Amino acid sequence: MGHHDDADFTATWAAHDLGEVVVSARQVHDRVLELGHEIAVDYAQSPPLLVCVLKGAINFMADLMRAIELPVEVDFMAVSSYGAATKTSGVVRIVKDLDLDLAGRDVLIVEDVVDSGLTLNYLRQYLGARNPKSLEVCALLLKVGEQRVQQSLKYVGFSIPADFVVGYGLDVNERYRNLDAIYTFTGQA
Ligand code: IMP
Ligand code: MG
Repeated sequence: MGHHDDADFTATWAAHDLGEVVVSARQVHDRVLELGHEIAVDYAQSPPLLVCVLKGAINFMADLMRAIELPVEVDFMAVSSYGAATKTSGVVRIVKDLDLDLAGRDVLIVEDVVDSGLTLNYLRQYLGARNPKSLEVCALLLKVGEQRVQQSLKYVGFSIPADFVVGYGLDVNERYRNLDAIYTFTGQA
């Protein structure tokens, strides 16, 4: 993972727009290893197909897949909420669909953050219609108290406050995905 495990380290090029560290690089690292181990135990009899939701889940997916000691398969889909606002509309556009067939597969959706839950709700229905044997979710972050749709999440990395956050894949206007820690964003969106 990154070179900076010190929670106090903030990239100088980004420091101006970042608030506090919400999850440090070290905390992310340790939790991803735990999740990978849990998944390997739960899916030992049937290695899952990991579905990464681009782009926010790229960092998480890259680390999580290497933490699962099973012959997992991976695929990617890209979705986009309409507009560039920091709140989702719940109307999701499929920008890139999956390449692999889900029929009969144990599918695990790898998501960056569940906020209102509308994006995930849409994805569950969309992917569920393809007859997977099972369909579960592994979300790195869950924003406490924000869900407008009831969510059953099999794996959650961290429950965090409802503030807008960036880093470790999460962006504002496509920036800050390349930070190793997760920070509140205090700049202008
Ligand atoms: P939801 O549909 O409201 O659950 O929002 C989910 C999507 O909105 C995530 O997959 C992210 O792409 C984006 N999102 C929600 N909260 C944040 C945040 O704090 N930082 C960056 N992206 C976010
Ligand atoms: Mg996302």
